Amino acid sequence: MSSSRLDQIKEEALLAFRQAANSKDLYDLKVKFLGKSGLLTEVMKEMATLPKEEKPLFGKRVNEVKSALETAYGEAEEALKKQEIEAKLAQEELDITLPAAGRPRGGAHPIHLVTEEIATIMARLGYALRTGPQIEKDYYNFEALNIPKDHPSRDMQDTFFVDQNHVLRTHTSPIQIHSLESESLPLRVIGTGPVYRVDSDISHLPNFHQIEALCVDKKVSMADLKGTITYFVREFFGATLKTRFRPSFFPFTEPSAEVDCQCPICKGKGCSMCKQTGWIEIGGCGLVNPRVFEHAKIDPKQWQGFAFGFGIERMAIIKYGIPDIRLFPENDVRFLRPFAGESV
Ligand code: DAH
Repeated sequence: MSSSRLDQIKEEALLAFRQAANSKDLYDLKVKFLGKSGLLTEVMKEMATLPKEEKPLFGKRVNEVKSALETAYGEAEEALKKQEIEAKLAQEELDITLPAAGRPRGGAHPIHLVTEEIATIMARLGYALRTGPQIEKDYYNFEALNIPKDHPSRDMQDTFFVDQNHVLRTHTSPIQIHSLESESLPLRVIGTGPVYRVDSDISHLPNFHQIEALCVDKKVSMADLKGTITYFVREFFGATLKTRFRPSFFPFTEPSAEVDCQCPICKGKGCSMCKQTGWIEIGGCGLVNPRVFEHAKIDPKQWQGFAFGFGIERMAIIKYGIPDIRLFPENDVRFLRPFAGESV
C-alpha cells in the first residue's frame, strides 16, 4: 500500500464531500470513506502487509488523513444544512407579517341583519324603532286592536296562551298600542321583534319576526301609505320590483290592503317561488281604524294614521331566494356564514 493511494483517497473524498448535493448523499460518502468497512479502514487493514519500520509512519499518515476527512465532512455537513434550511424557507415563503389565524368569529344572524336594514331605511323617513314585550296582555294583542272575542286568531289553535290574560304576541301590532298610549303625537314608529303562532311547515314557523310601521298625523291618507310602502320596498329589494295592493280586511285598519311584491326570482313571469303567480305577499296595511284610536284615548276626529306589518323572514326569503323558512332557526353555520360576510 503506497501513500499515494492514501493521497488519492484523500483528494477523492475532499472533492466528493464538497460536491455532495444534499445531506443524505454526504452521509453516504462518509460511510464510503470513513465508515467501518469504508476505504480508510481497508487501507488500515493493509498496514499488516507493510515492513515493520514503515508501519508507524503509515499509521500516522492514515490518522492525519482520517482527521482531515472528518473536519472536511463536518464543514460540508454544516454548509449543506444551511443551504437546505435556506431553500426550505424560500420555498415555504412564510410571511410573518400575515395576521395570526385567530379564533373563529361569530356573525350577526340574517334576521338581525335584515331587521337592521329595514330600520335604517325607515329611519330615513323619520321612523323611530320600538320593540315591546313578547308576553303580551290579551288586551294589547287583541282587544285594543279591535279584534273581537270570537275572532279566529284568538283560537287556541293559532295562539300560544301563557294564561287566561296573557299570550305570546301573535304579531307586532300591539307595539302600535303601546306607542299610542305613551308617546306624543304626531308619531312615526316602527316595531320589530319575534312573534309566535301555533304553525309549522315549509313556509311557517311557530316563532318568526315582523316589522310594523305606524304613522299618526293630522292628515294621513292611503296615498301616503302607498308612497311609504313603495319607497320602503324599492329601497329594500331594489328599484326594479313593482308592488301591488289588494283590498283586504284587518280589524285594526279600515280600509285595509294586502301588499304583494313582484317575485324577484322570475320578475313577475311565474315560478315555483311565487307559486306561478308572479307575486309574493309580504304583509298587510291600512288606515288606522278609529276604534283603535279610541282604545288609546286619541280623538279620531283630530288624528289619522296608517300602519303596515310585514314578515321579516318572508322579506329575507324573497331578497336572498332562500328555499325553506326553517333554515333561519336551524343555525347551520354553512347557511349563516355568507350573511356575516364570510365565505363558507
Ligand atoms: N298584524 C297583521 C298580521 O300579523 C299584519 C298587519 C296588517 C299589520 C295590517 C298592520 C296592518 O299594521 O295595518 O297578520
